[in-house]
Amino acid sequence: MKLGTPLSPSATKVMLLGSGELGKEVIIALQRMGVEVIAVDRYPNAPGHQVAHRHHVINMADAKALRALVEQEKPHFIVPEIEAIATDELVDIEEDGLAIVIPTARAAWLTMNREGIRRLAAEELGLPTSPYAFADSLEALRAAINDGIGYPCIIKPVMSSSGKGQSKVNGPDELEAAWKYAASGGRVDQGRVIVEGFIRFDYEITQLTVRSRRANGEMETHFCEPIGHVQVNGDYVESWQPQPMSPAALETARGMAKAVTDNLGGLGIFGVELFIRGDQVWFSEVSPRPHDTGMVTMCTQRLNEFELHARAILGLPVDVSLHRPGASAVIYGGLDAKGIAFEGVDEALRVPESDIRLFGKPEAFPRRRMGVALASADTVDEARRRAREAAFRVKPVSA
Ligand SMILES: Nc1ncnc2c1ncn2[C@@H]1O[C@H](COP(=O)(O)OP(=O)(O)O)[C@@H](O)[C@H]1O
Ligand SMILES: [Mg+2]
Repeated sequence: MKLGTPLSPSATKVMLLGSGELGKEVIIALQRMGVEVIAVDRYPNAPGHQVAHRHHVINMADAKALRALVEQEKPHFIVPEIEAIATDELVDIEEDGLAIVIPTARAAWLTMNREGIRRLAAEELGLPTSPYAFADSLEALRAAINDGIGYPCIIKPVMSSSGKGQSKVNGPDELEAAWKYAASGGRVDQGRVIVEGFIRFDYEITQLTVRSRRANGEMETHFCEPIGHVQVNGDYVESWQPQPMSPAALETARGMAKAVTDNLGGLGIFGVELFIRGDQVWFSEVSPRPHDTGMVTMCTQRLNEFELHARAILGLPVDVSLHRPGASAVIYGGLDAKGIAFEGVDEALRVPESDIRLFGKPEAFPRRRMGVALASADTVDEARRRAREAAFRVKPVSA
């Protein structure tokens, strides 16, 4: 294993496709290893742009633009941070030997569309999931629900993230609004949705799973302690680690995480989302990259999820050990404005064992994630109180 010097012919070069708050932390981890980093996003001054060697603004869903940039920059590794990418082109780029896509181009392609990953998990791997169907019209959607999915159910665009376009439907009279909302909330207006039966889980987790290389070159799978989280309208607001689980549920959860990550293959970290009731576990979805709820690892693990990703990508050893219970709480924009300011950061950091990340996004809107508060403690409950309190003390204001 050999690493080069950035900005020289020996450089080890990594291109991030998507440079939000998660990409920014991956970039910082790579920078610490002397990797040359190229940050790409669809808008200027994205968080990751601000910490990379070079940055570019392109439409990553545009195959031609993506190809041209890869040919220009010649990265060794391409690290997708978001789902909305021309993943067909990534498959070609990988096949043509231009770069290694993390974890694999196929994984990026399969997980970009809920249909790809759901059919793989449920129909090929036989993992338990919510009952589901896909629909291209309101009529087909209604038929699928009447044919067995039933109410309540959840409707999501097949291509969306962070709960965009997603809604819970309690009865037939709410269906049309949910269909319209999904059609407008998807990234690519395809008008295709997944409808899922509503799972009444006790709690949900993200099982961070790392695929890395052993000294002898074999692949190895590591499991972080489970992360519990709370989602509001499909978007994460709070997470903590470790989430207490029964030994049986934990074993089942990790078995499912292993099955799906073995199939996706490659090197790097995955966020496997699972629903749990008693000892019963349902697979929900997987991100072949760091997970937003995993930001908590910045205050709980010896190596956070971004450092784990960076190490695994580069073929380096990893350590997934937890050193302290902790929690994260999201700081929202709260207003529509550009170049906002944050008051109360000093007050927030007076909370014991707290820390803050402000992402530096150029523009705020009320539900945009602008930062995160982190806190550790002897117990998860105390850590959650601290993280919430720290987040609450940060007040976004127009400058
Ligand atoms: N079938 C379901 N039953 C119950 N809750 C669900 C279901 N699907 C999604 N949710 C809730 O919505 C959240 C977001 O859904 P998810 O499929 O993960 O969308 P996204 O890709 O936007 O993260 C989940 O974390 C969970 O809290
Ligand atoms: Mg999710």
